[in-house]
Amino acid sequence: MNNQNLLSIAGIKPQNKKGLVLLSSRELDKMRVVGKLAANLLNHLEPMVQPGVTTKDLDDEAARFMKANGSISATLGYAPPNHPPYTGSVCTSVNEVVCHGIPNSKTILKDGDIINIDVTPILDGFHGDTSRTFLVGNVSDKAKKLVEVTKEAMMRGIAQVKPGGRIGDIGAAIQEYAEANGYSVVRDMVGHGVGREFHTEPQVPHYGERGTGLKLRKGMVFTIEPMLNEGSYDLKFLPDRWTVVTEDGKLSAQFEHTVAVTEDGVEILTLA
Ligand code: MF3
Ligand code: CO
Ligand code: CO
Repeated sequence: MNNQNLLSIAGIKPQNKKGLVLLSSRELDKMRVVGKLAANLLNHLEPMVQPGVTTKDLDDEAARFMKANGSISATLGYAPPNHPPYTGSVCTSVNEVVCHGIPNSKTILKDGDIINIDVTPILDGFHGDTSRTFLVGNVSDKAKKLVEVTKEAMMRGIAQVKPGGRIGDIGAAIQEYAEANGYSVVRDMVGHGVGREFHTEPQVPHYGERGTGLKLRKGMVFTIEPMLNEGSYDLKFLPDRWTVVTEDGKLSAQFEHTVAVTEDGVEILTLA
């Protein structure tokens, strides 16, 4: 897949992304509220993740929950350049789907699948963006390990965040841990600034070198959302122009938190 086209998280070319934003403490309070709502939504969906459930069932329940909590979905109707409007209230990415899988009634979860559910409610003007990969029924030890390593990789990336640190510190920590465990890190999709806008600067690669890249400052809010693949990190799009899959058809897992750079470190905003 062509890197130029895809260095983005939602398929947005970098030049279309809005500039870097620092959030005030009042704005951070709002991010805490929507971040918690996003995490609660994943908690709410988790027990539904069972064999026989369709990704549309999950989407319908997510839509209902967001509405009941006074929020709207940032993904429904989302139409960055070169993409048709997205039709899901959440993203549902099963097995070899890396991200942006579109909920539908034909995708029925089966025993042994893994599924990432990525949610972004908007509440009071602010976006909370988080995802987790869930296990469907009895999952092989091999797939479970991919999921566990991906979660830990995200946490190691988050642990690098502090004022004066660099964006490259995050990717380096993720890449080292992923590769030490025999997985590749997706290059073409990155974390992003988030707040009043869904996708802003900075871009947050999940690979890289320590001590390089943008210097982190208090008030920056961005996502860390590594995608780890069992095979190569090469990707391709399905004809729907949203769904991203591994080129080799092997498994991919992802976790995502929205985090804020604080006075002396990091705060995870998307905890339940
Ligand atoms: N939530 C995704 C992210 O982490 C973006 C999804 S955009 C969609 O940035 F249109 F695919 F839903
Ligand atoms: Co995101
Ligand atoms: Co997301």
